[in-house]
Amino acid sequence: MAQFRNTWIDIRLDHITSNLNLIRNASEKAIFAVIKANAYGHGDVEVARHLEKLNVSYLCVSSLDEAVHLRKHGIETPVIILGYCETEHLHIAGENKITCIIPSKEWLLNALSSYTSLQNLVFHIKIDSGMNRVGIKNIEEYKEVLQLAKNHQLNLEGVCTHLSSSNMSDQILTDKQLETFKKFLESSDSGFRWIHVANSDAAVTVSKQDGVSNAVRCGISMYGYSTFNQELQPVLSLHCGINQIKKLYPGDKVSYSATYTASKEETIAIIPIGYADGLDRKLQGFHFSIKGHPCEVIGRVCMDLIIIRVPVDTKLTDVVEIIGYHRNAADMAKHLDTIPYEILTSLSPRITRRYWQNNDLIKSINERFD
Ligand SMILES: Cc1ncc(COP(=O)(O)O)c(C=O)c1O
Repeated sequence: MAQFRNTWIDIRLDHITSNLNLIRNASEKAIFAVIKANAYGHGDVEVARHLEKLNVSYLCVSSLDEAVHLRKHGIETPVIILGYCETEHLHIAGENKITCIIPSKEWLLNALSSYTSLQNLVFHIKIDSGMNRVGIKNIEEYKEVLQLAKNHQLNLEGVCTHLSSSNMSDQILTDKQLETFKKFLESSDSGFRWIHVANSDAAVTVSKQDGVSNAVRCGISMYGYSTFNQELQPVLSLHCGINQIKKLYPGDKVSYSATYTASKEETIAIIPIGYADGLDRKLQGFHFSIKGHPCEVIGRVCMDLIIIRVPVDTKLTDVVEIIGYHRNAADMAKHLDTIPYEILTSLSPRITRRYWQNNDLIKSINERFD
């Protein structure tokens, strides 16, 4: 472990445990835990290690790169690539026991023509039930894929689809997608071991009574955010120390392009975090916290530094909470007109992650040194 910069992320693994329990109770389905994009910024290897203890059925990633990274770090739980795996790399997926999605008949034909044997691979078919992203849109094509899989004795373990609008309060589009997905399933009797549809929001709304699925793919809710479930607890908080405290006098200007001018005497702190850490340049005007006091971001966010207005009694030893109890990733997302997913996945790997189990610090990781 090494940490020479006073900027860090705290990850509460016990909150992942309690969030997963809530999702399990709400959905009554097996859990496919989504840990793509570095586990939404939380650190995929450590989160995967924790999830292995919680008996999740699958870990979901977006690419073969992410999947192999997990295997290289000793993760043994089944891993599925939700995104597109180039057929030329399928042997790597086989060697690493990584489950792949069949996104189209064309993809499967390509795979079958490139390899003499695909029997050591596990596949799930992806149905495009209305989002018009990756997946098979046409029932005839689906049936042809099933036939090809049968002819070549492929291990077709699952079938899935992805919902576009499960965050909406009316479920019109979700119901329509479910109806379409069911038509695919009814078109042939394939006896899949896994049928998975719901993401976080659907897991707590439609999943229980969708009548077909036996697993939910949950990402953001595991990390503590959801449109519908307010009992979840955010897992991640972001903090930094203070490099310097100084006074501004009326007319003093702050940071690049001098976008802030002091109108009276003010105390400011220069803090070691910036847009290279994943904080958006549009955070000017947002508030961080010191001991619960809101501290406005003044002037442009720099690459490695931000300037905030602080109470006069602020000390160099004080800690600045950037994402945490007072303002979480959803609050920051609102200010930036985006979603918590983007806030969390943007956090740079250059920030040290500290992992907590209840109140014990169990590990501290900075990718540069560990
Ligand atoms: C195919 C797929 N399934 C599940 C998820 C998880 O979604 P959520 O984080 O809303 O649970 C994602 C996230 O982007 C996804 O792309």
